[in-house]
Amino acid sequence: MSIDPSTLQQAWPLPSTPRPIVIIGAGGIVNDAHLPAYRLAGLPVAGVYDLDAGKAAALAERWQTRAFATLDAAIATPGAVYDLALPPAAHLDVLPKLPDGAAVLLQKPMGRTLAEATAILKLARDKRLIAAVNFQLRYSAMMLAVADALRRGALGRLIDVEVHLNLVTPWHLFPFLKGMERVEIAVHSIHYLDTIRAMLGNPTGVHARTLGHPSTDLAQTRTSALFDFAPDQRVTFSINHNHDFGRKFQDASFRFEGTDGAALVKLGLLLNYPEGEPDELWIVEKGGDWVQVPLAGKWFPHAFIGTMSNLQRFAAGEDSVLMTAVEDAWHTMALAEAAFESAARPATPVKAAP
Ligand SMILES: NC(=O)c1ccc[n+]([C@@H]2O[C@H](COP(=O)([O-])OP(=O)(O)OC[C@H]3O[C@@H](n4cnc5c(N)ncnc54)[C@H](O)[C@@H]3O)[C@@H](O)[C@H]2O)c1
Repeated sequence: MSIDPSTLQQAWPLPSTPRPIVIIGAGGIVNDAHLPAYRLAGLPVAGVYDLDAGKAAALAERWQTRAFATLDAAIATPGAVYDLALPPAAHLDVLPKLPDGAAVLLQKPMGRTLAEATAILKLARDKRLIAAVNFQLRYSAMMLAVADALRRGALGRLIDVEVHLNLVTPWHLFPFLKGMERVEIAVHSIHYLDTIRAMLGNPTGVHARTLGHPSTDLAQTRTSALFDFAPDQRVTFSINHNHDFGRKFQDASFRFEGTDGAALVKLGLLLNYPEGEPDELWIVEKGGDWVQVPLAGKWFPHAFIGTMSNLQRFAAGEDSVLMTAVEDAWHTMALAEAAFESAARPATPVKAAP
């Protein structure tokens, strides 16, 4: 192998002088991923605020931190970095109250629609916020390693990428999705839209279909999509959250094929969610054997260290790029919007017999 797989980047560097994190929103994802990640990384948490004071108190007790009584008290924390883990519609309620120039991480998605993403972007510009969206899959050990392998030329130029999910997602764990018009692409596949943008840049177009399943009343749980990049690049999603026929042929993978090599990523978290299975990364160079790359962390919670670290390092001048800055994340939202628009359009009609 032209590169030593053990030298692939798998973690984002930590900020040298971590700032106190003020978490706004004390829901499931904060308990399951934000707080475990910050504890693992030794990033200090100043406290948590939630409209539901009981939830904030219970979470603060579990994680031995402070529950702020008011949003103003939370915001007043000296030197704070704000971590908004709110339903997407609530971002626009809280962002205007942050001090101008504040550093803030917003949970994905960046609003419910592209119009809300645009409003968030404009607000961030007006207030000169250092604002990023928590699209953390691209900071996972497996995806950082793939990006590094690409950067170092081990795969050549990417020409074929497939995201393949064939599994059962326990949607009942997310009751807030019931009744929502936009589900699969908006809350799930949006991670994959963001990750393919991180690897390939912005596609010029998308063809998509997204649909429900007889077993559920959720608006969509299955998606197929095809993205236009360069004429010789094929990028496609096949996402089925309803393969309820046992573990044998269930799958959750990204296949990256380049001119000189390929990488296969297994998203273990999604198999048997939420316990999950180990993530996996395999790399091959043309003519060689597939090599499994031991991973230094999982998607959940380790990748959540990356989004917060990049934000804090960028704010301190230690990183030159804020990878999922609102300016960048807006394009992921634009891609999701285009996918929904495409899904609503008819396909090329097939001629009837003469
Ligand atoms: N992989 C990921 O990055 C990932 C995974 C799960 C959820 N999420 C996102 O994280 C966000 C939160 O998800 P969750 O599962 O924790 O939801 P949740 O419903 O469990 O928690 C949201 C919390 O926000 C609080 N809240 C609502 N409006 C508020 C306001 N204006 N001020 C203060 N608190 C307010 C609610 O009381 C609630 O406790 C969602 O946007 C979701 O899409 C991201």
